[in-house]
Amino acid sequence: MTHTMTQLSTAGDQREWRRMDEHLVSLVDATSYEADQYRTLRHALERTHATKKVIAVTSALPGDGKTTTAINLAGVLAQAPDARILIVDLDLRTPAVGDRVGLIAPSPGLVDLVFDPALTLDGVVRRHPQFRLAVLPAGRALTVPYEVLKSPRLGELLQLATRQYDYVILDTPPLAAVQDARLIADWVDGFVMVVAAHRTPRGLLEDALNVMDPAKLIGLVFNGAERRRSDYYHGYYYYGSSQGGRRATGWWRTGNGRGNGNDHAPQPSVLNKAVHAVLGSRWR
Ligand SMILES: Nc1ncnc2c1ncn2[C@@H]1O[C@H](COP(=O)(O)OP(=O)(O)O)[C@@H](O)[C@H]1O
Ligand SMILES: [Mg+2]
Repeated sequence: MTHTMTQLSTAGDQREWRRMDEHLVSLVDATSYEADQYRTLRHALERTHATKKVIAVTSALPGDGKTTTAINLAGVLAQAPDARILIVDLDLRTPAVGDRVGLIAPSPGLVDLVFDPALTLDGVVRRHPQFRLAVLPAGRALTVPYEVLKSPRLGELLQLATRQYDYVILDTPPLAAVQDARLIADWVDGFVMVVAAHRTPRGLLEDALNVMDPAKLIGLVFNGAERRRSDYYHGYYYYGSSQGGRRATGWWRTGNGRGNGNDHAPQPSVLNKAVHAVLGSRWR
């Protein structure tokens, strides 16, 4: 196989890694049904949102499935021939990416990179020995990540990363609990909102969507949505958003098409349509 990218042409040091978490289906079970759902998301990114390279995976609350989704998304993107995919842990209070992808050795990460100008992106990023995936772990947890998240150096590093990688996938803090994710919004081209099916309260999801720029919404991922009919999905369900981009904040809330002031006929909001498609009417 030819490798066009020098960074990934040499696999990472095998001794730094252990087996991957089994929930990371796009990597450990690439032919599975669940992995197929992530491929739908990948295709949406590649076709509908081709200019978006820095993608944040976010959600309202801890435990919704952001880290799982972020790594799986990076994993399906990494299946493309000669893919250059970087996953970055920006959930600096509760970092998890390094551990979840199987990185054993405590290594320097994003926090070190931001604080120490002598470190370079290339020097700190770890390459997975088996997948075409590069990982920038958090490095260490911070109780107050504000300085790192608002630092211009973070913006520069992400810009540099977009020149070296096809996609930069960001695992991020929950939107409802803390301000952290709002600090990241400017660095991001697009975001994927993870919804823990039957768990994320609908009001909190709406609040979380209102934090982000609607033009940047790539879609919703319903994590843990159960199989209801043969054409619905167990595990993960992706609902793409190709509309709504220019609508006013809160367009998902309206449910009557008044969000952009132009529609005459009542239209269900994107959120209502997505929820109905995946969960029926049983969601709070
Ligand atoms: N679809 C799923 N099926 C089974 N377990 C899951 C699924 N999604 C997430 N989990 C598990 O739930 C926990 C929380 O998920 P995680 O991705 O860490 O959430 P977050 O990053 O939003 O806090 C983890 O232990 C993860 O392995
Ligand atoms: Mg997480």
